[in-house]
Amino acid sequence: AYTSAISQTETEIDENLIVVGVSQVGAESDWRIAQTNSIKESLTAENGFYMIFDNAQQKQENQIKAIRNFILQEVDYIVLDPIVMSGWDNVLQNAKEAEIPVILVDRDVEVDDDSLYVTSVVTDMVAEGRNAGYWLEDYLEKQGREDEDIQIVMLLGTEGASAQIGRTKGFTEIAGQHENWKILEQLDGDFTQAKGRESMETLLKKYDDIDVVISENDNMTFGAIDAIQDAGRSCGPGGDMIMISFDAVRAALEAMQAGEINADFECNPLQGPKLAETIKRLENGEEVEKVQYIEETYFDTTMDLETLIRGRAY
Ligand code: AHR
Repeated sequence: AYTSAISQTETEIDENLIVVGVSQVGAESDWRIAQTNSIKESLTAENGFYMIFDNAQQKQENQIKAIRNFILQEVDYIVLDPIVMSGWDNVLQNAKEAEIPVILVDRDVEVDDDSLYVTSVVTDMVAEGRNAGYWLEDYLEKQGREDEDIQIVMLLGTEGASAQIGRTKGFTEIAGQHENWKILEQLDGDFTQAKGRESMETLLKKYDDIDVVISENDNMTFGAIDAIQDAGRSCGPGGDMIMISFDAVRAALEAMQAGEINADFECNPLQGPKLAETIKRLENGEEVEKVQYIEETYFDTTMDLETLIRGRAY
């Protein structure tokens, strides 16, 4: 069951440490686990921090509760990885009134007053979506299929999350530039393997002419691959469907090596070091940029996957 971080207030905290309350979305994906580990490995006592971590189990109301608890605990900083973009104005206003700086990580928010957070260490989700679209353009052209009708289905991440909104916006923007690309349907997969599988099963029953699957994270992709194979179909280079994914965790690169994924657009989960550095800069009174994007790349089967997999940290 969800238990709030408030119980941790009883612990004596070394006053030299910077106390940071971290409100995490959940543990819905391989990516999320890698990002949580990165934050935990960076906000350590050796590095000058005392971290209070709260896993909201994919519920915004739990994140709001956690932030209220951090305010009561008088933490020095609040780090928020917001499950969705909207609905944060009141609680962030409370944090501002308590003079606790809020730092966004990974995902973005939509608030009326952007002074409600001091900075953000986030992903450019729209760019990821656009890059997937550009990659598909290029791939179809190389295959001499640029003038064919291309039927696309999309598995969407958690509705309202900046990762879902941004990737959808970026990809559909490029798709809209091609009259012959048709998005048959967009179905929610909530960034989880089980929901990705379920939604892919639904789509396969409905359409027998899918050319491309755009799956907004790797775990939904793993579920979708299972559904496709169970239906006696195939995806990846040489398969019935082109499979494009996001995150690029090691297991996805292995699936790519096995011929099940065509391209994967990295979402870099190693955000802890940048977050720790940002807090230290704020502590030193430095001006910090409002938006700090994490650097990212992409992977496809033209690359030396063996070496890339060996070097993959997550
Ligand atoms: O916000 C980042 C996204 O959230 C990742 O793509 C996904 O795996 C996670 O659940």
